[in-house]
Amino acid sequence: MKEKILACLKEQEGYVSGQSICEELGVSRTAIWKYINVLRQEGYIIESVTRKGYRLLQSPDLISREELLTYLPEMEDSEKVHYYPSVDSTNEAAKRAAAGGAPDGSIFVADRQTAGRGRRGRTWISPGGEDVFFSVLLRPDIAAQSASMLTLLAALSAVTAAEKHSGEPCQIKWPNDIILHDRKVCGILTEMAVEMGEIDYVVVGIGFNLNRTCFDEDIADMASSLFKETGRRVIRAAFLGDFIRDFQNRYRTFTETVSLKPFMEEYNSHLINTGRQVKLVKKEQTLIRTALGINDRGELLVRDEEGHIEEVLSGEVSVRGLYGYVQ
Ligand code: BTN
Repeated sequence: MKEKILACLKEQEGYVSGQSICEELGVSRTAIWKYINVLRQEGYIIESVTRKGYRLLQSPDLISREELLTYLPEMEDSEKVHYYPSVDSTNEAAKRAAAGGAPDGSIFVADRQTAGRGRRGRTWISPGGEDVFFSVLLRPDIAAQSASMLTLLAALSAVTAAEKHSGEPCQIKWPNDIILHDRKVCGILTEMAVEMGEIDYVVVGIGFNLNRTCFDEDIADMASSLFKETGRRVIRAAFLGDFIRDFQNRYRTFTETVSLKPFMEEYNSHLINTGRQVKLVKKEQTLIRTALGINDRGELLVRDEEGHIEEVLSGEVSVRGLYGYVQ
């Protein structure tokens, strides 16, 4: 009910009368008054004027379920959205839910994580109130070898949302870091469970630095947030709503063809590595190659000095710039 009242207030630029909310939602005026007060306690600034009604003046930057769902009005199954004020890791929450049978497309969002994880066993620092940490649980009917393409698909949705909310061009560092002004603003950690050679589930976990301004010393020169780079605050629920809608559409198309062909051109147009020399770090070995772009399986095509072209699979190598993280 609270989320429906919030949706009514958001639909109107001006006042919405208590009577019209009562009629639309079939509840008493007293019940509405109570829910309005709960919303006020959560930080919504709602004006009430006799004979005019209620008017939403300001929303707090929450990413609660109700707030998120107001940005996803067409989401058919809102039960798939799970919100945690604090959780160890949204990837772990998704895996626990997967073990309990949670369906394809379930979303796990947290305001903060106490044990956020990055790629290669790193920690993903996840303080509350500023950024977004979320995981999407997928149960695609595809071969296990194809699952890494889902990470690149998520990177495309991430770069799309980043450009919309920053108002600036953003890039992808292969396979899935999102870059703004040569700094990493988003990382993606994909994990998969396979049973008898078949995918049981894939969890795509995304950490997006949206409004944070302080970064630990060891990452301060390579990490940043959309706000730190542009001076524009990002409304977290709106950002997440845009990402989820975009990813749902891409995922639908992807599962029809199990190929990145429909997305290759768009991905390559954002790829920061194209034409640049990259260091391929594979176990003890480091090779210098020129990056050319991805193929329809999401592999990075690289050329050596003699002009031989090879395909590099994500997960097998780490790609660096010659002198640092990107360049
Ligand atoms: C990277 O190292 O670049 C990947 C970082 C992925 C972080 C996200 S935050 C949401 C999800 N939960 C986690 O514990 N990790 C991912």
